[in-house]
Amino acid sequence: MNAQATTAAPVPYLDLPAQMRPIRKEIDAAIARTLDNCSFCLGPDVAQFEKDFARFCGASHCVAFNSGTSALHVAMLLLNVGRDDEIITTPCTFVATSWAISYVGAKPVYVDVDDATFNLDPRHIERAITPRTKAIVPVHLYGHPFDVDPVLAICRKHNLPLVEDAAQAHGAKYRGKIVGTFGAISCFSFYPGKNLGAYGEGGALVTNNADFAARARALREHGSTQRYYHDEVGFNYRMEGIQGAVLGVKLKHLDTWTAERRRVAHRYHELLAGTPLQLPREADYAESAYHLYVIRHPKRDELKKHLEANRIGCALHYPVSLHLQRCYASLGYKAGDFPAAEKAARECLSLPIYPEMTEAHIERVATVIEEFFGS
Ligand SMILES: Cc1ncc(COP(=O)(O)O)c(C=O)c1O
Repeated sequence: MNAQATTAAPVPYLDLPAQMRPIRKEIDAAIARTLDNCSFCLGPDVAQFEKDFARFCGASHCVAFNSGTSALHVAMLLLNVGRDDEIITTPCTFVATSWAISYVGAKPVYVDVDDATFNLDPRHIERAITPRTKAIVPVHLYGHPFDVDPVLAICRKHNLPLVEDAAQAHGAKYRGKIVGTFGAISCFSFYPGKNLGAYGEGGALVTNNADFAARARALREHGSTQRYYHDEVGFNYRMEGIQGAVLGVKLKHLDTWTAERRRVAHRYHELLAGTPLQLPREADYAESAYHLYVIRHPKRDELKKHLEANRIGCALHYPVSLHLQRCYASLGYKAGDFPAAEKAARECLSLPIYPEMTEAHIERVATVIEEFFGS
């Protein structure tokens, strides 16, 4: 550790208090309203947020859930995916994308990712399609849209629905259009650290299909549309009233926050251009929401130690590709099956990125990285 390491201010990986401070009054008022109404489960604030978020996405319907995982689970049920069906998806994501598939007894069928964006590589998809394939579930990973058009072309050719896992990509754009309406269904997470984060758990299912929306509403509420009458086996997947109130306030700030994330990313691009790191570059079709700023280098583990020694937060997304997770050993995959995903797991490192990051913070991260490479 150099002398500066002990004196320079630490750079947190994420700074949720900094995000909360300027909106605290709005948040307090929204939560107070929920308390006054005693609308703790669903209620008017959740209903209003559903309308606002649907409009934000350019979709007809938004159904709020208690998590993104629950929304993905219900997406599989809406498509009548069941035992022994196969779902084509990515091994390079948070495990919840695959949980939804497993919850309904289906099998995740992985295909490798694109080496530059870490998103599902459309060139590998068709080879994985079998008569049992029921849907394709790619992820807009780290806030960068996957290449939607070629995936949709494959879906149309094989008559398969597309489900977008947009948990990390609120407000990201594909060819100028916000992600979340390209597929039959898309699912979002409002986990606190997400670009649009609740003050607890939360998620949403977005769709243009009125029947899907109606059934999703019933499934999240014990399979009922009328209290104590249960048409099918359902779940308690309701969003809490307070989360709806918080998200309603925060949604108004999302465009500004996305612009700020993009500012931070562009400064990193400039400052780190001379280092040997592989930097996240936007594909020509993409406007990333930069949920994460993920760099890649073979000495990732040493770089992580160096950043931490200099009190700079960083994180690994994700250290083990899903096809090599112990919980999926029974699927029979082995090391070497998906070289791009496995390389990403070995070499990727997420640097701090959040809307409130100052120029001094960004420069400090860049300086410490330059020191690591001895420049
Ligand atoms: C890509 C992806 N899918 C699904 C989820 C699940 O969302 P939640 O944590 O709200 O259940 C997450 C959340 O971390 C995610 O990043």
